[in-house]
Amino acid sequence: MAKKTIRDAQVKDKRCFVRVDFNVPMKEGRITDDSRIRAALPTIEHLISHGAKVILASHLGRPKGKVVPELRLDPVALRLGELLGRKVVKLSDCVGPEVGAYVSGMSPGSVVLLENVRFYPGEEKNDPDFARDMASLADIFVNDAFGAAHRAHASTAGIAAYIPAYAGFLMEKEVAALGKLMENPERPFTAVIGGAKVSDKLAVLKNLLDRVDNLLIGGGMANTFLLAQGHSVGKSLAEPSMVEEAREILEKASKGGTKVLLPVDVVVAAAPEAGMPAKVVDVQGIPEDMMALDIGPATRKAYVAVVGESKTVFWNGPMGVFEVEPFRGGTLEMAAALAGVRGFTVVGGGDSLSAVEMSGLSDKIDHLSTGGGASLEFLEGRELPGVSVLLDKN
Ligand code: 3PG
Repeated sequence: MAKKTIRDAQVKDKRCFVRVDFNVPMKEGRITDDSRIRAALPTIEHLISHGAKVILASHLGRPKGKVVPELRLDPVALRLGELLGRKVVKLSDCVGPEVGAYVSGMSPGSVVLLENVRFYPGEEKNDPDFARDMASLADIFVNDAFGAAHRAHASTAGIAAYIPAYAGFLMEKEVAALGKLMENPERPFTAVIGGAKVSDKLAVLKNLLDRVDNLLIGGGMANTFLLAQGHSVGKSLAEPSMVEEAREILEKASKGGTKVLLPVDVVVAAAPEAGMPAKVVDVQGIPEDMMALDIGPATRKAYVAVVGESKTVFWNGPMGVFEVEPFRGGTLEMAAALAGVRGFTVVGGGDSLSAVEMSGLSDKIDHLSTGGGASLEFLEGRELPGVSVLLDKN
């Protein structure tokens, strides 16, 4: 990595403000997936064992500058404490005299978690005063929040104007893995892109077209491409306003020699609900009153074959409504196909990660990115503000 990491920093006895991405899924006050907390452990443990005073900060959800009690970070502090095997004190603020007083009394190797940074309007506005107040708590800034690195917020970027900024180990690992996709990937290189909307992924689709050998499209967004091919998609989710963009992508791919695969058959039902009678139809025959909710068996076979021959694969976005049992087959087969690749595999995005988790194949994937939006923006070729503010190695 061209940026300095915590290996390059003297952290002993230093107050380290560590931005992490503890934006974990929660249900009724309980964390349903703690992967993001686990992913930050190597950085936190390194800092503890090197005698740093660790001040953690994160966002949770989108409270939009207001205190939302359900989005307090107390359950996160509890879980982090369990994982670290030590007490993690949670403060009910991010800045201010009480926080300052607590931090000045910290001893080396201790850990504190500040309150949700997005309770402050200054966070998302990247307000310099708020950034300076946070910076005043610490001697150095460590950014380990890859998942929020595409946000130019006070705690991800602004703070670096006031104290020296280093990458944490998760940030380093993410940038290395995704960078490997961008620089000289082993070929054939295949991108599997799914999820609901073309509009969410337009930029990444365009950027990947010039880089990959194969682009496999699934999920709701495939329906917009089917419209571009002149098929009728019945009641399926689709974006008619994006049909022209989809058509341009297909044209550009065919001129540039990139193979784009679209579904040839789909699983349809009247609604994306469990227990709905479902059937497989060719894309030429999607009934007017039905929705395409998963890729069909012939499509799966074709996609699995392309993935199986690839040496590098990036996957973002499910192939269907995988949360609902009859429509998860395509997504689970994709997870299995990636797990079997003899090459380098990267999965990014919350839903695709849940699908890999569901399939029990997580340990067969080379890199599971903790960043959904961040990994996409990285692959769009954009510089991430949370990375660019870090100190350069040379
Ligand atoms: C994520 O969940 O992708 C990150 O934590 C960023 O969250 P945000 O999209 O609310 O900025």
